[in-house]
Amino acid sequence: MKKVVLAYSGGLDTSCAVQWLKDKGYEVICFIADLGQGEDFEKIEKRALIGGASKVYIKDLRKEFVEDFIFPSLKANAIYEGKYLLATALGRPLIAKYLVEVAHKEKASSVAHGCTGKGNDQVRFEVTAQILDPKLEIIAPVRVWEFKSREEEIEYAIKKKIPIDVTKKKPYSLDKNLWGVSIESGILEDPWIEPPEDCYQWTNSSEDAPSRPAYVEIEFDKGIPKKVNGKGYDALKLIDILCNLGSTHGIGRSDMIENRLVGIKSREIYEAPAATILHYAHRELEALVLDRETAHYKEGVSLKYAELIYYGLWYSKLRIALDKFIEETQRNVSGTVRLRLYKGSCSVVGRKSPHSLYREELATYSAKDKFDQKLSEGFIRIFGMPFQK
Ligand code: ARG
Repeated sequence: MKKVVLAYSGGLDTSCAVQWLKDKGYEVICFIADLGQGEDFEKIEKRALIGGASKVYIKDLRKEFVEDFIFPSLKANAIYEGKYLLATALGRPLIAKYLVEVAHKEKASSVAHGCTGKGNDQVRFEVTAQILDPKLEIIAPVRVWEFKSREEEIEYAIKKKIPIDVTKKKPYSLDKNLWGVSIESGILEDPWIEPPEDCYQWTNSSEDAPSRPAYVEIEFDKGIPKKVNGKGYDALKLIDILCNLGSTHGIGRSDMIENRLVGIKSREIYEAPAATILHYAHRELEALVLDRETAHYKEGVSLKYAELIYYGLWYSKLRIALDKFIEETQRNVSGTVRLRLYKGSCSVVGRKSPHSLYREELATYSAKDKFDQKLSEGFIRIFGMPFQK
């Protein structure tokens, strides 16, 4: 009997996929990744076993997710199309890495996932699996199975006695991990309609946020956040604290039309409170410590880096090479940023660093001025010379 390792979430699609793969003659092993989505993993494990999985792996990947995926993307200032902080996109290659690992351990010939044929996630899973082991067969049941609608799928589940949540159709499609929530479909598919308040999973609306601002200080060491308000935390705790604080103050919501890799434009809602705060603080600190040329050059690198993550090319040679450049730029990105969180907005109110390149004696208009203004005349003459007619 051929073995397949399925990335399993416990939702309708992956639950039906277990049975569907068995119908096709496979022994199915389920792999469940904990990326901080806050699910009841015991319940999901039971469901997989009742649904016919021969074995279930649950792996807590939160630490690796933060250290090896989230922090590199933070150091890179990787943001897709100006808005998306890539929570879902960053999780996929990590899940795929372990799908391949479990497949090797179990001597399975195939891996499978529950993505549709219209999204980016199928690409991210499959490209990663291909890079890590091109010999593995990849199966995407949802892309090929015979069900024409959700109703048909539910009918199949009932007929085959697959345990599913029989509550009425969920209004949105969600993907959650500790870095953010991605929300789509249902009424959100009309880009003119304002997202209903009930689509948001974590954050307060700005109306419901406290009427007094919160101030928060974040200390970085070489581009990595280490302390909040002067107190050191491990990475998971630090993100958790900022997620709660940001959610309370309505930070990190975004509504965007994004270009998917498969050529479709889609309307997506994101919530990423901790990610928003940390990205913002990190860029403010870089503004203080990076020299102009590095800072400007890095902006282009950030765009490319974000694109590579979005496209599922985490394990590409280019992403790894760019990482070396980014790492070098972070040497001096140590210091503290002070932010004000108020009714959905996150603004910087102060920054300091032992590596600050800001020189008050050069910037000042007071008597302390050390800048020799007379030198500017010659500088401008020569600077403008090539552009004169
Ligand atoms: N569009 C986002 C991305 O490509 C999120 C997709 C998440 N899936 C979901 N079921 N909401 O990364």
